[in-house]
Amino acid sequence: MTATGDTEAITLVLKRKPTVLMCPPDHYGIEYEINPWMDVKRGAVPELAQRQWARLRETIEALGAAVEIVGAVPHLPDLVFTANAGLVVGNTFVGSNFRHAVRQGESPVFDAWFAERGWNVVRPPADIYFEGAGDALFCGETLFFGYKFRSQPRGHAWLGELLGVEVLPVELADDRYYHLDTCFCPLDDSAAIIFPGAFDEYGLKAIRDRVPLLIEADATEAEAFCCNAVVIGRDVILNDISPRLADSLGGHGFRTHPLGLSEFIKSGGSAKCLTLRLDGEEAAAWAKD
Ligand code: ARG
Repeated sequence: MTATGDTEAITLVLKRKPTVLMCPPDHYGIEYEINPWMDVKRGAVPELAQRQWARLRETIEALGAAVEIVGAVPHLPDLVFTANAGLVVGNTFVGSNFRHAVRQGESPVFDAWFAERGWNVVRPPADIYFEGAGDALFCGETLFFGYKFRSQPRGHAWLGELLGVEVLPVELADDRYYHLDTCFCPLDDSAAIIFPGAFDEYGLKAIRDRVPLLIEADATEAEAFCCNAVVIGRDVILNDISPRLADSLGGHGFRTHPLGLSEFIKSGGSAKCLTLRLDGEEAAAWAKD
């Protein structure tokens, strides 16, 4: 990207225009198995993955958000899941420390992208696994922090101190929902979609105490990645949605846009995983969009 482009990117963010980071699936594939969805014998179809990704990008842009691109890199098939790059808060980018060695090569790529564009790049302590906006999601003023399968519970205290925000750790209980963004999706500062089956009783109660409106997905809806949505204002982009859940969201003023993202679900990711909000994950800010 040119120097002018860089300035534009940071200007968009300062203006708080909804902006997301995406990575084209040019080197995407199922090359290893690090979650129960992945099966190297059930590879992704490259042309279909390209079409599905392009449609996601077009839909995001048509709904008024800007898309920034980080280039694909050979042998980093999961780089497409930019939600795991790190966590963006204001002009700070907290990079990820991936749990699995096969994804650790992504961090230098993402850190460099942010550093070159003027973000203040912070690295977590080397001994704390942290997988970015896959596990750390704002709903209102609270940063919900999912841990167990990827990020580690001790990361929550470190993050709270660094950012000066309240961080609420919630344990994930089902390995199919290994990242928080596979089972919890903030919609604005006081509403979220949730699959209760992915949490233990304590975590669920903590979320219920903090989020006034929880729209529940059932097991079948969760398996269709209904909790992994890109939210732009009152528009919700996702893989698929049942008429029941679409009605429920519609009743609260949210329009749903099902796109079909089968090739990415083979890797355990969907719409939200393929994006990272550059204007901040704070739902409180989205509400002002
Ligand atoms: N195959 C990737 C992994 O297991 C998928 C990541 C999905 N990303 C997300 N934010 N949930 O790490």
